[in-house]
Amino acid sequence: MTADPIKLMKQEVGKAAADRVQSGSIVGLGTGSTTAYTIQFLGDHLKTGELKDIIGIPTSFQAEVLAKQYGIPLTTLDAVDHIDIAIDGADEVDPQKNLIKGGGAAHTREKIVDYLANQFIVVVDSSKIVERLGSSFPVPVEVIPMAIAPVMRAIEKLGGKPELRMGVKKAGPVITDRGNMVVDVKFDTINDPATLEKTLNNIPGVLENGLFVGVTDLVLVGEVKNGEPIVREM
Ligand code: A5P
Repeated sequence: MTADPIKLMKQEVGKAAADRVQSGSIVGLGTGSTTAYTIQFLGDHLKTGELKDIIGIPTSFQAEVLAKQYGIPLTTLDAVDHIDIAIDGADEVDPQKNLIKGGGAAHTREKIVDYLANQFIVVVDSSKIVERLGSSFPVPVEVIPMAIAPVMRAIEKLGGKPELRMGVKKAGPVITDRGNMVVDVKFDTINDPATLEKTLNNIPGVLENGLFVGVTDLVLVGEVKNGEPIVREM
């Protein structure tokens, strides 16, 4: 067994989500290291014939690349009128199944796809479960570049501490798949995620934020018990 328990949990939960996809489905393909396993298992199931005729809608460039690598046919939202199931990761999950997403700067496309799905399944390892959103992870906000300064000022007025997300192995800020920037906002407490989601999106120049409220149908949580990975439903 691999020594890394987090990797093990992600793998197990990624597989459990892939097992829930039925032949003939239109599938929203999430972003991140957990859904990367889901995409891999979906590709495996197509190869073995266990699964037939699925078509994916990627939530990011990463998901698109992985889907192509594992042989999952892709389509766009112009070509379909619904999504049967979307599977996506999260950075935090609260007891009401509300989420913070956007650790991979893909939350705008993720929100479009995940909200359209008839069934939205979230896949996380147990470290992502929190009592209250914002406890350990800031709220990512995608901002049109010319509006960065006024948006950061407006966020400070709301009581948030905004920080422009900087690239790793790239000088300067992170640029999203859509050519925008991301501001990570730390709030002391988030008492009302639904109102905060709307308030942030009302600031001119904000494209979308990473609060996903009231949209999750099921959370699959990967845990390690007695050295073995298990999946619990929430
Ligand atoms: C991408 O923008 C995020 O919303 C991811 O879905 C989230 O960060 C989960 O990623 P991991 O599965 O890598 O933890």
